[in-house]
Amino acid sequence: MSELEERFGAAAKACDDTVVWHARRGPAETMALLAQAADDLGIEEWDRYGAGGAVARLEGEVAELLGKPAAVFFVSGGMAQMAALRVWCERRGSQRVAVPDLAHQLRHETDGPRLLQGFRFETLTRGWDTATADDLRAIAGHDRLGAVQLELPLREAGCLLPTWEELTAFSAAARDLGVPLHVDGARLWESQSFLGHDLADISALFDSVYVSFYKGLRAVAGAAVGCDEDVATELRAWRQRMGGTLFGMTPYALSALVGLREELPRLGESVAWARSLAAELVARGLRVQPDPPHTNTFLVFADGDPDAITERVAAFMESERVMPCGGWRPAQAPGVAMTEVTIHGAALDKDPAVVAGWYADLVAPADR
Ligand SMILES: Cc1ncc(COP(=O)(O)O)c(C=O)c1O
Repeated sequence: MSELEERFGAAAKACDDTVVWHARRGPAETMALLAQAADDLGIEEWDRYGAGGAVARLEGEVAELLGKPAAVFFVSGGMAQMAALRVWCERRGSQRVAVPDLAHQLRHETDGPRLLQGFRFETLTRGWDTATADDLRAIAGHDRLGAVQLELPLREAGCLLPTWEELTAFSAAARDLGVPLHVDGARLWESQSFLGHDLADISALFDSVYVSFYKGLRAVAGAAVGCDEDVATELRAWRQRMGGTLFGMTPYALSALVGLREELPRLGESVAWARSLAAELVARGLRVQPDPPHTNTFLVFADGDPDAITERVAAFMESERVMPCGGWRPAQAPGVAMTEVTIHGAALDKDPAVVAGWYADLVAPADR
């Protein structure tokens, strides 16, 4: 870790307030909250290998929310998606999976899905682009794909979403070709207000729907896949084969149940606040992607040296005890710095115009 990263990390830890992400909640506070939740929800038994207890309760609630016959809990999204794609590929007798080139599996999973499951990933889209039905039809041998995956929203593109019309046309094309359609919905909860349809309508477009519990929903960790019953049975088998059917998964499931109750209803507010911040930033000469944001997460770009900006952010945190943003990194253009901004409940008591003023000063201080 560089000296700057160490300084930044220490300054962030010493803050008592934040604009980005959730306010910090320590292990003891989290465990106390989970104990209270177990009481409030009447969870008296442990799940055993994912059966019964809080896990069964969570799977039932998620299936209902997504309008799917079943849902299967996983301790990680990485495993959930390996299992889902594996089920489709086994059924189809094809290891070919079409994904955006910015997909999480290709960027952040140390090549695990290819090495462990033997997937042969094919490029559905390149860069900051949402997939259309034409992109699917442009893949050679598209009708013989094992599966196709959309990422809603496409995180590496600033959490970019397609329009509802593009999405329904894509789903219709996949069905027409007989290719199973899976969605990486790590931030599906956060996408609902932009898409303008309820979660069940969105999920109905897909054969399997992965959702995450620890981003917008603030759980400790965990994920689920919503699907038909027969797919769920196969998912449970793959989860066990991957060593993911833990003897007890109750703490994770409980924290997700808390998230569904406390965080899910507030996500629309976070998206609206993020949009207000983005507009204030643009008014001050910074650039955002997408503009306006589609979710509570977007990218911010500014001319300048990323380390110099990060250093000023660290100094700001040391004096103000508020974390305005994360560290800045080089954008793929000379002289341009970028950071990813994610808004949750912790920002909502702040004025977006004031926060945008902080950003403008941090990026280009008046005395420079
Ligand atoms: C888009 C996307 N997909 C999948 C994952 C994997 O989730 P997990 O960390 O639970 O394995 C993440 C995690 O950040 C993600 O952002």
